[in-house]
Amino acid sequence: MLDKLKSIENNALDTLAGAETLEALEQWRIENLSRSSEVMSVFSKMGTLTAEERPLVGQEANKVKQKLEAAFAEKSETLKQEAMQKAISSEKIDVTLPGRPAKKGGLHPATVSLRRILAILGDMGFQAYTSRDVETDEMNFQALNFPPHHPAREMQDSFYIDAPEAGDNPMLLRTHTSPGQIRAMREYSALDPQNPPAIRIALPGMCYRYEQITARSEVQFYQVEGLAVGKNITYGDLKGTLAEFARRMFGEQARVRFRASYFPFTEPSAEMDVECFVCGGKGCPVCKNSGWLEILGSGMVHPVVLQNGGYDPTVYSGFAFGMGPQRQTMLLHKMNDIRYFWGNDIRFLQQF
Ligand code: DAH
Repeated sequence: MLDKLKSIENNALDTLAGAETLEALEQWRIENLSRSSEVMSVFSKMGTLTAEERPLVGQEANKVKQKLEAAFAEKSETLKQEAMQKAISSEKIDVTLPGRPAKKGGLHPATVSLRRILAILGDMGFQAYTSRDVETDEMNFQALNFPPHHPAREMQDSFYIDAPEAGDNPMLLRTHTSPGQIRAMREYSALDPQNPPAIRIALPGMCYRYEQITARSEVQFYQVEGLAVGKNITYGDLKGTLAEFARRMFGEQARVRFRASYFPFTEPSAEMDVECFVCGGKGCPVCKNSGWLEILGSGMVHPVVLQNGGYDPTVYSGFAFGMGPQRQTMLLHKMNDIRYFWGNDIRFLQQF
């Protein structure tokens, strides 16, 4: 029996030396240390031994078992260390490799320019005032001094809305942000009808026109309207404010000019041009060789419009202007087609 134990030990240690992987080691443990292993079977055979042999064999069997356990623990530790070393060297991270760029979302170019304009006007004291997209004919036209059959109404073919209950004041999608002027003036003047407060607001929003979609016109587009009403506001204030706006928007060197124009809700009216920032005024395809780019419409608020807003035109005066943020983006980036804005082409959007 003692010889057998010796050979069990030698055999086991021999095969252990050949176990080179953690899997082989586990296999070895099952064969040599589990309940069904040879050493353990020696314990179960103790009953067949004589009283003198029993303690000797018992002691020896225990020793062999402990030796094998110790050898197993040592080998197990060695293999684990080796596996770790291997992993460290093969899974080494190369910190000099370039990273994979994360895809970032961004604001739509039309939103960017809308916000930029509002930020500039905000710095100049114009508070944002939002007004509704669905308007009445009265607000969109009549109160702004477009009489029912005024030819200017045809400039803005409109999306009318089926609202039979509206009667002779049909509803439509606003064709410009100007009706917000009336809503704001009525809201402010209602605060103190005898002595209404001064107003300085910027009205951003989507406008809608029932038009053929082409490279130059879309059925919906943004506008930003400005309105200043108070006592002693002059045409000089209009020019100074808008020229300063152009400098902040297009750069310190931006030169502007005012051209007489016509809008029913302002008198006098003018369009403001900025010197072409593509050619510096020399003439190029973007400015159609004129050297100037039209940027906005403006004018002194018409007395009828002040009246309709609850402001006495003999006491109050004001100026207003309206511009298209998308048009400014197009000029700045030499875009030749307005349809890119709502085309959802990622190749266009990613450039901003
Ligand atoms: N509402 C005009 C348009 O849509 C733009 C405009 C012109 C607004 C002159 C104004 C203004 O407030 O004074 O074409």
